[in-house]
Amino acid sequence: LRAELTEAVEAAPDLAALDEVRVAALGKKGRVTALMKSLGGMDPEQRKAFGQEMNRVKDAVARTIEQRRATLEAAALEDRLQHERIDVTLSARPEGTGSIHPISQTWDEVVAIFGQMGFAVAEGPDIEDDFHNFTALNFPPDHPAREMHDTFFLPERPDGSRHVLRTHTSPVQIRTMLSQKPPIRVLAPGRTYRSDSDMTHTPMFHQVEGLVIDQATHMGHLKGCLQEFVEAYFEVDDVPMRFRPSFFPFTEPSAEVDIGCSRKDGDLRIGAGDDWLEILGCGMVHPNVLRACGLDPAEYQGFAFGVGLERIAMLKYGIPDLRTFFESDLRWLRHYGFGA
Ligand code: PHE
Repeated sequence: LRAELTEAVEAAPDLAALDEVRVAALGKKGRVTALMKSLGGMDPEQRKAFGQEMNRVKDAVARTIEQRRATLEAAALEDRLQHERIDVTLSARPEGTGSIHPISQTWDEVVAIFGQMGFAVAEGPDIEDDFHNFTALNFPPDHPAREMHDTFFLPERPDGSRHVLRTHTSPVQIRTMLSQKPPIRVLAPGRTYRSDSDMTHTPMFHQVEGLVIDQATHMGHLKGCLQEFVEAYFEVDDVPMRFRPSFFPFTEPSAEVDIGCSRKDGDLRIGAGDDWLEILGCGMVHPNVLRACGLDPAEYQGFAFGVGLERIAMLKYGIPDLRTFFESDLRWLRHYGFGA
């Protein structure tokens, strides 16, 4: 029996087969166990001799099984080591990664371009008071110019004043001139709000304000600065620019700037062409604005401009509907090359 069982143990090809052999020999209904049970029916002399022999067999079989198990486990481990090797130099499976929203990309790009020209970033709050959003910017009280902007008003305060969601980034001009001495060269990107919604208007949108104040600043500087910006941003050389007289209460003279473009089969191309696109408002800072900020217009002057971020992003990437910027549709982001 011992020889037979040992042979069966050695022949077991894997751990599962080995376990079957173990159960068949040493299990509750195993052959060794059955023989042990038969001890009860023997006389004392025989039982002693047979019992000792059976214990030896049982121990010997158990030992062989353990040895075999160790061998098989080692082989199984070796097998796994051979087959489950991981190549850590393989590249990872592609996973959807996040990406920067086009507005944020445009924002960063504009800040970088003006940063090269020496502009520092300035900030102001989204919730403004009447003084910074209108009065200091030379909007007379009850002047219709205030209605140019479809203003969102906040509830009246105990002192009767009403704060607004800023309708443009121009209030940052005021905050900057009140808090630092010229020469000033700042860029103020930020959110702006107007109660309006259609293909080209959303209640919240973004502007970038530029402000330069110094002792001999003139419109030529303004033109050169904007020309440089337009060519860097649209990545086109010699873009024709047209300064159209316009009106803003806080600049005099004021202009709206158009850039040259051509349209072929609905395809918009920035650069020399037979058409014009309006891209921003600008002008020389109005003396009343300088005075409101404690600056003497005889000593200082400068220029300001305001660009719609969505507007220039739409032109660059050919996006027709402004509202789609704020719908968080991944298919839209991928379509314009912004998604992962
Ligand atoms: N604040 C103006 C607007 O919202 C733009 C502008 C800024 C015009 C600075 C002139 C100078 O339309």
